[in-house]
Amino acid sequence: MNTPITARAHTNIALIKYWGKKNAELIIPTTSSLSLTLDQFYTDTTVVFDEQLTHDELSLNDTLITDNTLTKTTAFLDLVRQMAGIDTFARINSINHVPTAAGLASSASGFAALAAASSKAAGLDLDRQALSRLARRGSGSASRSIFGGFAEWVAGEDDFTSYAHPIQENVTMDIQMLTVVLDGSQKKIGSRQGMQHAIATSPFYNTWVAESAVDLVAMKQAIANNDFQTLGELAEHNALQMHSLNFTAKPAFTYFNGYTLSILNLVQDLRRQGIQAYATMDAGPNVKIISQSDATQVICAAIKNNFPNAGIEVAKPGPGISYL
Ligand code: PMV
Repeated sequence: MNTPITARAHTNIALIKYWGKKNAELIIPTTSSLSLTLDQFYTDTTVVFDEQLTHDELSLNDTLITDNTLTKTTAFLDLVRQMAGIDTFARINSINHVPTAAGLASSASGFAALAAASSKAAGLDLDRQALSRLARRGSGSASRSIFGGFAEWVAGEDDFTSYAHPIQENVTMDIQMLTVVLDGSQKKIGSRQGMQHAIATSPFYNTWVAESAVDLVAMKQAIANNDFQTLGELAEHNALQMHSLNFTAKPAFTYFNGYTLSILNLVQDLRRQGIQAYATMDAGPNVKIISQSDATQVICAAIKNNFPNAGIEVAKPGPGISYL
């Protein structure tokens, strides 16, 4: 058990979003969701259980962490210890290859890598479905980062039935996510808090649940048909529906800022010019542009023309969990 284990997990961006839990403790979502795992952004996490330790010790990007992130990590490791029947504390070393300002959630890759590394370090031999269920307990979106390419998180009803599975791990479609970074500030409302507030107060929440089920079926069909345009249209529509819940919550809130709307406008302008580009946004202001490789140059030029200071990252489909 005293052998350090290192796992790598990549981030994913949802094309059909997860926004709300029916069971907050077990992280069982109200809807199923579907994402694309990305090649550019990942987390490497090393875990070793050590009898000498009197508490879990976490370092993130070589900095010792003692805040709320450590509390969440210990709560997660308690699940692993319970499964493995041990009570030993662990040393966790996590390196995030997710630019912190990119507005890309690192919790998905973070908890997926932690689930894989800690379970193996504790002597457990979990298959990918069990890993997905475990990762889900850290952060819902992490359940999908166990798999590469397109993955669906089936909402399920309880801990046993709520997990992700691959839809297409080796992506055949020419698809990429262009992350446009215009605002590097930390989000003010965490996803955990934001989504439950939307459930509790948006009058459109039930409509969202129904519409998202329709979008999901269509999205899986678009992937099967290699139909990029339909995929893009559905993803943008689904993201805007999710953000509408926040605009219609009481009190209302939004992750959008002026830049978010400007980039949304720019994406619509590009489409008017015949360029296939679609937008998706998560719990932060930065926009991800879903596009194809032959449009990279013209999209980047349009962004740079309007926003010379924008940071742009281009990511392609990435792999599932691996051990290093
Ligand atoms: O898994 P969380 O708690 O970081 O929530 C993720 C929520 C969204 O990124 C907005 C949507 C999604 O499905 O990833």
